[in-house]
Amino acid sequence: MDATTLTLSTRFQIGEVDERVFGGFLEHLGRAVYGGVYDPGSAHADEDGFRSDVCDALKMLDMTAMRYPGGNFASGYHWLDGVGPREDRPTVQSRAWHTVETNQFGTDEFIKLCRGMDWTPMFTVNLGTGTPEEAADWVEYTNAAAGTVYADMRVENGSTDPHDVKLWCLGNELDGPWQLGHVPAREYALRARQTAKMMKDVDSEVELVACGSSGITMPTYAEWDRTVLEIVGDLADYISVHRYVDNPSGDTADFLAVTSSIDRQIEEIDAVCRCVQAKRRSEVRAYLSFDEWNVWFHQRRKSRPRKAGSGPLEELYTLEDALVVAGFLNSFLRHADVVKIANLAQIVNVIAPIVTHGDAMLIQSIFYPFAMFAKRRRGVSLRPVVAGPAYDSVNYGRVHTVDASAILDGEMLHVFAINRDVTEAAKLAVDVSDGEIVGVESAELLTGPDALVVNTFEAPDVLRSCAFEDAVAADGRGRATLPPLALAAMTFRLDKTGA
Ligand code: AHR
Repeated sequence: MDATTLTLSTRFQIGEVDERVFGGFLEHLGRAVYGGVYDPGSAHADEDGFRSDVCDALKMLDMTAMRYPGGNFASGYHWLDGVGPREDRPTVQSRAWHTVETNQFGTDEFIKLCRGMDWTPMFTVNLGTGTPEEAADWVEYTNAAAGTVYADMRVENGSTDPHDVKLWCLGNELDGPWQLGHVPAREYALRARQTAKMMKDVDSEVELVACGSSGITMPTYAEWDRTVLEIVGDLADYISVHRYVDNPSGDTADFLAVTSSIDRQIEEIDAVCRCVQAKRRSEVRAYLSFDEWNVWFHQRRKSRPRKAGSGPLEELYTLEDALVVAGFLNSFLRHADVVKIANLAQIVNVIAPIVTHGDAMLIQSIFYPFAMFAKRRRGVSLRPVVAGPAYDSVNYGRVHTVDASAILDGEMLHVFAINRDVTEAAKLAVDVSDGEIVGVESAELLTGPDALVVNTFEAPDVLRSCAFEDAVAADGRGRATLPPLALAAMTFRLDKTGA
């Protein structure tokens, strides 16, 4: 295969990478909360009932904004059920997922977990079966100083200081017929606008995510977003974007090309944001909150049953899935000026990088790309110009064999490169037009013997990132040879003298 050149300039900057792009998502669904992060019966439980093994593994991902309590679950959730003495909390039907919710884990437990994990809480209010007033009351509970009924309730429940939750989603996927309280766009938008106003009246500093299209295949895709943004107006700081990807035909090369359609989805919804801003002649621009994303299909496709554990939505992730996860992250970095928040859905057991089984825990393939990017996420994203071999994918058009992104952090240049070729190695040269690459600070590689290889409880270390010796600095350039089906995360030292 011919070599690929990645040309960068320190002056061609896309934007500062918002650290909230490395967020996660915890939903009351299956074994995500109970048996996942919260498991008082486990040998690993700490004094609060949080699983220390799961928390320690999640710390390696250094996640930022943590979305909670759903997802679909949020559209039927009444937050008052989940606060106060545990023995007084009601056990209710979770109508979104047709399960039973004991409410033993709620707002205060989640905040405590966030504080311990250094996560920024991001709540989704119930705009399915809930009211604007219920949402505003939740903001009062979390953010107001003592002296009014819900703030005093928080104090009574053990937290004198406000929880200071600044990031809130105005409902979840209300464009979808599966959603509790699903309505046409205009109806949702009127409800969201009223809610947003009331929430900002309680705390003017909250940032709000209006509910955008739940996927590119929705019949109302883009039109829903336009209507919502026009009606919610300047009260919407962000619009949500969701995407779960699939490999329906088992074609690895095609699956790995999905990044071009993620790029496109971001650009389309951003175009809607700009169009509405122009129509409204507003100074306020809504940015993108890509608050659900992942690979999710193994459990949905009976033809390829792969199950990681005993609960619903428990996917067993392959090497190709991990490379697609890396592709999502490359795409977010390439749109750092637009994507300000993103949440990997989800964090444990449910479509997750970590799975528990009793007291045992397994790290899945998709854990590694997230960790490799997260430790190199600070700085400004540079425009990556790729020249080299390309292929025609069945569903996503012509794409470069190497998919790339880059972040400049002072003298450090982080480069992320995926070799999508199934059989051949890819030679990569990194050329900085106004600087010289003078050394390699660190480099890691994730690869494996074939696209469908997985980690299991019996063989947990088949896939893991390892030191990448084949990344070097020579003649002012970075050079690397990526094996087939591989992700390299490389940090080069850059000399900008004379630039
Ligand atoms: O993450 C699983 C589910 O996927 C979420 O609850 C919902 O928002 C989406 O459809």
